[in-house]
Amino acid sequence: METWLYFGLRLVHILAMAVWIGATVIAPYGFRRTLALGPEHTLPAVDRLLAATTLIIVAGFTTFLSGAALIYVMGGVSVMPTRILVGAGLTLGIYLIGGTISRPAMTKMRAHFAGGGDVAGAMPFIRTFEISINVEMALRLAVLVLMVVKVF
Ligand code: HEM
Repeated sequence: METWLYFGLRLVHILAMAVWIGATVIAPYGFRRTLALGPEHTLPAVDRLLAATTLIIVAGFTTFLSGAALIYVMGGVSVMPTRILVGAGLTLGIYLIGGTISRPAMTKMRAHFAGGGDVAGAMPFIRTFEISINVEMALRLAVLVLMVVKVF
């Protein structure tokens, strides 16, 4: 294994996961407070979330691709500790939740506010969104522990 390649990929992997976790914490920060500012703030608030999603998706896929490349340069799946493979599997679960629950909830909120709907009417989507991003974050932190703590 080329040492420079291993350390380079590891650096990319750690930077990408830091951006992924950091952006998902910061993007929804103050969302409810912004919605409470009035109807003219609701659509821009959702658009800001959707704009941040682009960075989040890029960081998420960079984490996955650099992780997969690390597995390759380290000798393949068969030499990987179970915790890394479990972490990689959970990461796929995060994308699944993001793509099938979190993002659709955001696009429904957008359509609702774009059609002149109020915050009370958007509550089902807001709650779904908040629950799913919290589940995603719990999984991300669980993967972080699995990657770092050499338990099994
Ligand atoms: C939420 C997603 C992820 C987070 C937060 C994360 C975090 C980390 C961290 C912090 C390290 C460095 C561990 C250390 O130096 O002790 C690491 C290493 C690693 N990660 Fe991830 N990772 C994630 C997803 C993935 C995925 C999806 C894969 C594979 C497809 C992967 C494969 C690896 C590999 C192979 C290593 C190197 C282990 C070693 O050098 O012994 N990671 N990860």
